[in-house]
Order: sequence, then C-alpha cells, then structure tokens
Amino acid sequence: SLVGSEMCIRDRYKDAVFYQIYPRSFCDSNGDGIGDIQGIISKLDYLKDLGVTAVWLSPCYKSPNDDNGYDISNYRDIMDEFGTLDDWKEMIDGMHQRGIKLVMDLVVNHTSDEHEWFKQSRSSKDNPYRDYYIWRPGRGKNGKKPPNNWSSRFSGSAWEYDETTNEYYLHLFSKKQPDLNWDNPKVRQEVADICNYWFELGVDGFRCDVITYISKTEGLPNGKFNPIICGDEQFVIGPHYHEYIHELNQKAFSKYDSMTVGEGQGITVSNAESIVAEDREELDCIFTFEHQEADAFMTVIPKKFSLKKWKTIFSSWQALPDNCWNSLFIENHDYPRSLPRYGKLEYRKYVAKMLAICINFMKGTPYIYQGQEIGMTNIAGFKPKDYVDIVSKNIYKIAKFFPPLIPVVVWALQKRARDHARTPMQWNAEKNAGFTSGTPWMMVNPNYKKINVEEALADEDSILNFYKKINKFRLGNKIIKEGSYTELLHDNKKLFVYKRELGDKIYLVVCSYSSKCATFKVPEELKDLKSSLVISNYQSTPAVLQNTKILPYEAFVYELTK
Ligand code: GLC
Ligand code: CA
Repeated sequence: SLVGSEMCIRDRYKDAVFYQIYPRSFCDSNGDGIGDIQGIISKLDYLKDLGVTAVWLSPCYKSPNDDNGYDISNYRDIMDEFGTLDDWKEMIDGMHQRGIKLVMDLVVNHTSDEHEWFKQSRSSKDNPYRDYYIWRPGRGKNGKKPPNNWSSRFSGSAWEYDETTNEYYLHLFSKKQPDLNWDNPKVRQEVADICNYWFELGVDGFRCDVITYISKTEGLPNGKFNPIICGDEQFVIGPHYHEYIHELNQKAFSKYDSMTVGEGQGITVSNAESIVAEDREELDCIFTFEHQEADAFMTVIPKKFSLKKWKTIFSSWQALPDNCWNSLFIENHDYPRSLPRYGKLEYRKYVAKMLAICINFMKGTPYIYQGQEIGMTNIAGFKPKDYVDIVSKNIYKIAKFFPPLIPVVVWALQKRARDHARTPMQWNAEKNAGFTSGTPWMMVNPNYKKINVEEALADEDSILNFYKKINKFRLGNKIIKEGSYTELLHDNKKLFVYKRELGDKIYLVVCSYSSKCATFKVPEELKDLKSSLVISNYQSTPAVLQNTKILPYEAFVYELTK
C-alpha cells in the first residue's frame, strides 16, 4: 500500500491506479435518481478493495447542467443535487483514510453563462467583468455575421449574439459555456485562486479540462476551411499556452504536493514533450486521444477498427522521452464503451480482460472508468429519444433538418454517442441496477441483470477480480514502471505483442484482438530464456513460453529471465 509512503504525489502518481467517477451516474443515496457524494462515500470500500489509489472525479461544482457539470456557475461550492461542501469534506477524508488521492476536474476554458462573472460581463460594455470573456462585434452589413468562422465543438458557430450589448461572445462548446479570456491577467489570477482554494481543502490535484484551448490567436483570425469543424489551428496550444500554464503552475500547482493531468486535444507524440516535460513546470501528464480514432474519424464518424493504427499509436506514445509520463486509458465519459468497439460481445469477459492486460503492462498511469471493471457495454438499440447528452441531441437535431440523414445519424450515434458511457453504474440485479431507488436520470442498460458488481464479486473468474489482481501486481512493479518498451510482430493482423525489459527481466505481453484463432511463434531472441506465466485470461495458456495456438481474444504475459 502507498499509505505513509515518503514519496511526494508527483512521483507517486507514476505508481497510481486511477478510477474515474462520473458522479451523476455512480451511486444515488437519496432516491432522486441522480448520483451524489453520499453515494460515492458508500462505495469507498469498494474502490479500496478494487485496489485503486487515486480518483479522478468529474465536475461536482455548482452547475445548471447544460453539459453535466462541465458548465460551472460557482467553482467554490458543490452542486445542489450532489450534496454539500460538508459531504465533500467527508468524502475526501474517507478517501485519504483509505490511501486514495482525490484529483478534481478543473474546467476553466469556459464557465457557465449562469456564473456571476458572465452575468456581469454581458450586462454592459463597461462592466468590470466585460473583459473576463471574449466579446466582439459582428461582421458584414449590419453586423449580422459572427466575428469569425470558428465552430463550436458541439455544432454550429462558436459565437452567440447577445442583444443587451449588440455583440457576440465566443463559446467553443455550448452557448451556455462562454470561453474565458485568459489574456486578462485577472482571469488567470481567479483560476489560480480557485486551485489554491481546493488545495487548501486537501485536494491532491486536477484533471484540466480542454486545457489546450485556453490561448487564442490574437485578432481571432478565421480558421482554415473545414466542412466539419473550423478554427482549431487558432487556439489549440495557442500563442500564450505555455506562458499561462507555467504561471498557473508557479502560482498554484507547484506550491502543493499535487499532480495535474491535462486533457490533450491536439497533442501528438511530436509536441507532447513540450507540454509535459518535467523541467517545463507546466502539467505533469496528459491524456492523448489519438488511439480513440482507431475506429473513428473526428470522434463521431464510425469506421472499422484498425488494429494496425491502434498498435502504431500506442507504441509511438510508449517511446516518449524519460522526462515525460504517459496516461493509459481506453474508456472515459466522452467515448462509447470499449465493448463492443475492440471485440465481439459474445467474448465479453475475454475481451475486457485482454484489454486490461494490454493497457496495464505498458508504461504510464492507468485509469479505469467506472463500469469498465465489470465490463459494462454500450446500449444495444439505443433510441434517439433516449439520448440525453447535449452532443447527441445536437447532432440528431441537425439530422432532422435533412431527413435522409436520419438513418445515418442514428447508426453513427449507436456507435459513437457519449451516452453509452454515462448510463448508471450497475451495482446489482435489483431494480435500476441498485443505482437508485427512484427514477434514474438516464436509462439503465437493460443488461444489468447479467452485468453488475454483485455478480462480479461473487465470481472468482470475473473481470472485476481480474482487475484486482492486475492492480495489485502493478503496484510498485519496477519493470512496468521503468522498463523499456519494444513492440514485436508489428505486421501481425491479429496480435498486439510487446516486451518490457529491465535488468535481466523481460515481460512478454501477447494480446489477441481477433475472434478467430491465431498462431504465435516465439521470437528467436526469446526462445532459450527461462520463462514463467504471469497472468492470462484463459485457463489453458501453457505454463512456460512455447509456440502455441492462440484462442479468441486470448492474452497472456510471461516473465523471462536472461
Ligand atoms: C471535455 C469534457 C467533456 C466536455 C467538454 C467541455 O472534453 O471531457 O465532457 O463536454 O470538455 O467542457
Ligand atoms: Ca441523489
């Protein structure tokens, strides 16, 4: 256990196993159908037992919930539906008592339009808060055209006209999420103050929401034309990004024993070092989304899963220089479930365990998204009326203008909607999966009678118990933490094979992404080494390394000694 460890969290997160909680859908304690903080408290022993050492909590601040808390109206208080600041204090104490760190979501590219700053800002051009946001007059005759061609990531123009002062404000997400003006030093000070407020209350770090969007090109020029989304090159890692994040690091992050992980839209292996290298004193690590495109274009357009692309991307990130650190994840609240994206549902348990092996033996800090540990899946036959996410609803709304598009959009959403990951956590086989005694805020996946925590705890061979084993194994394991990474058999169309090496030890990791059988030939260089099986998702995997037939989605790891 890491409790009482002398290391500071900035080193310790390299050994951490994170669990992401999407509070609205985790556990409802009072029957109003909405997950809440007391619900989280009731599951802390579950998290401890799973072997996680840190939690990333999606936003729990005051919010009108246009984007489920990613639109904050008060950064210093808890959302009414989730509870009170006292509940929050009880929760963090409970986590710390169990050796679990708490990393909160920091959503500061934008606020809610119901934040007091924005209410002031929109009220008049000379209000002291006017410059907290990005206001511009319209273009064209009578100023009827938005100030530039940038798109909202949630569809339509990124500009909203506001009658009161006859100007437009910028919103890269929904029109209820106006972008803050980071060029204003007062805004940057406010952000540092918010971080320090939570640090003083004991928080251990932040996951920084769309942090790469905070600095916009001066003059806000048009973006290159793009039929789906315009403007990215004018604000993704914009001109003052590094300066502003370094400043925030100096004023807040570095003053505490903290860790930060940035949401890395637009970050590639080639610029990653400039974002997270230790000596830059900016962020500690980031999430890349490149591998999420192995079965999609621009996130929402589905395409066939490419194992080749998946392998190439993971392997390229594993090659980050030593002064950087990886975040490893396959699921979060913004993407559909990994089942059935990367494997057939009839092999659910094998696929989920294979993915667990594949990710967890890589170098980096792993994140488990709630429900991933029991193999929760997408909802089969999701109906448009059941979508609750603002992005799904917007996309469907557009389709309704062009009726021939409807079947295509329904198909795309079935594969890509964020809703899939947000259905309530499945705790048991009782009503509403044990998530709530009331009416859940969004539908429960009908498969909860078969897939739930209670069932998984009772089944020795469950995905949940497999994750427990891996989490325990990973903790403090030097080969996983520090060993070199080499991909093998890159051209194999069914297998993802890599080795990790430190001193005289090697882990050989073999994962099949195929529902068909495959053959595995031991690479020449490894043939004569002493070997023993570390973990496998089939009983039949041989105890020592040998040429073998690989079953559907089989995965195993051998330890070899030189
Ligand atoms: C991030 C969040 C996502 C949210 C968006 C706007 O991408 O993960 O859920 O909608 O930022 O805040
Ligand atoms: Ca509740």
